[in-house]
Order: sequence, then structure tokens, then C-alpha cells
Amino acid sequence: MMLLDGKKLAQEIKNELRERVTRMAETGIETCLAVVLVGDNPASHTYVNMKEKDCHELGIKSLRYDLPSDTDEATLLGLIDQLNSDNGVHGILVQLPLPRHLDEQKVIRAIAPAKDVDCFTPVNVGLLATGKPVFAPCTPAGIVRLIKANGLDIAGKNVVIVNRSNIVGKPLMHLMLMENATVTIAHSRTVDLKEVCSKADILVAAVGRREMFDETYVKPGAVVIDVGVNRNEEGKLVGDVCFDKVAPIASAITPCVGGVGPMTRAILMENTVRAAEDK
Ligand code: GUN
Repeated sequence: MMLLDGKKLAQEIKNELRERVTRMAETGIETCLAVVLVGDNPASHTYVNMKEKDCHELGIKSLRYDLPSDTDEATLLGLIDQLNSDNGVHGILVQLPLPRHLDEQKVIRAIAPAKDVDCFTPVNVGLLATGKPVFAPCTPAGIVRLIKANGLDIAGKNVVIVNRSNIVGKPLMHLMLMENATVTIAHSRTVDLKEVCSKADILVAAVGRREMFDETYVKPGAVVIDVGVNRNEEGKLVGDVCFDKVAPIASAITPCVGGVGPMTRAILMENTVRAAEDK
């Protein structure tokens, strides 16, 4: 069994990015990412803190906006407008989910596509769907990069993605099609999920239910990608995949910690550096 070490690959990507940031600085441009966080979702706080830490590590300036959970739409849209027209800002990230009273799609539509380092705006989602994306969607691109960097083939393989969100499932479907995979998207209404998953050469689990995928979901020799981050009864971080049961039969598997997460953030940094270089 091969352990797909996202932490190590992310570090390699970041080492290369640090040089690109330095080269930009030599031309007088300070690469800058604006991060907007609304409310006090603890997981979102952790994610945003880690993204800021990555920025500091690379010499990218991070502008952080912590807005209270009762922020109204006009205030948030006003901030995005201001960041759109600020020439010193190269990337804009609005951490999701937003509090319920805010219209997520309306907020996303306000972000200038050239600064949309998450690849969430309709323009960038459309470009992705045509197979010619400008920005890579962070988690999906991180997954594809991690698989390919470990010498594993995607072309022609049965990829089953258990997630249909705009952040993971749908953009990953596009990237996998670009890699010539045969793609299935499964979700909560899929009939006989176990049967569907057991046909996968590459299984991507992103349901948010701790250790739901045991060995009965996995074909022996499959590549297993665990996007889940959950806490178990003891408060320990565990994935959607039961690692101890699945690792013995998988050909390759991501660890819950140090797998997909660091790759997501590395791609975000790469998109930010690209946004600054392309300006
Ligand atoms: N929420 C969960 N994943 C992401 C992500 O990649 N970007 C943003 N902005 N919010 C998220």
C-alpha cells in the first residue's frame, strides 16, 4: 500500500512558489491574497488560519477581514468591490460556508474572475466546464496533482466521487474528465452506494460522515482519496474512510491528516501566485 503524502508534495510545491514570489518581489510586486471570513464557524477559522500561515511561509502578503456573523449583504458586497478595484490585491477568497442570511452565490458572483483564486465564480466555473480553466479549483486540483505525482494513472480509470458540491464533486468531475477518466458522481440519493463504490478504480470520499467507508466499499487495489475531516468520540481527527480497514486492501490511500488538506492550500497558493504574475 502506498501512502499518498499530501504534506510532502504540498511542501515541494510551496518551495517552488516561494521562488516565484521572490522573483515577483524583485520586479516590485508584492503578491497579495485577501481572505474574508464572516462569522465564527470554528472549522472555517482553522482553515483560514492555515491559509494565512501558508501565505507567510511563502512571502505572500495576506489581508484578513474578519466580519461579524450578522454582517449584512451590502457591507460584504462593498468590501468585495473595494478588493476588486484594489490593484495591490491579486487574489480574493471568501471562506465558505457563509452565515445563512447571506446569499452565497450572489456574494461569489461579486468577486472579479481575475482574482477568483478559488475558481468559484460563474465565469471560472464555465471555463473549467469547457476544459480550459484559468484557475484550478483548489481541492479537486490538489487531488489530481497528488494522484499524478505518485505515478498513478487516471486515464481510462473508473473514478467514483461521493460528493456533488460546487467545491469538490462537480469541479473534480471536470478535472477527471480532462484526465480521460470515466466519472461517476454519487450522493445521498444514490441507490446501492456500496455497489457503485466497489466498481471504483479511484474512490473519492467526501460525505462528512466519520469512517463511513470501510473495506466493503472498496475494490481491492483501488486508489482511495479521503476528503473528510471529522472528529471521533475522543475528539481525534478522522476521515470519511476507515483508514485501518481500507489501507490493507487499497493500492494507495491518503491519510486523513496530511493528505488532501495541505494540497488544497498549496493549489490556493499557486493560484494566488499565478494571479499576481498574470496581472
Ligand atoms: N470552504 C470549504 N472549502 C473551501 C475552499 O476551498 N475555499 C473557500 N473559500 N471556502 C471553502
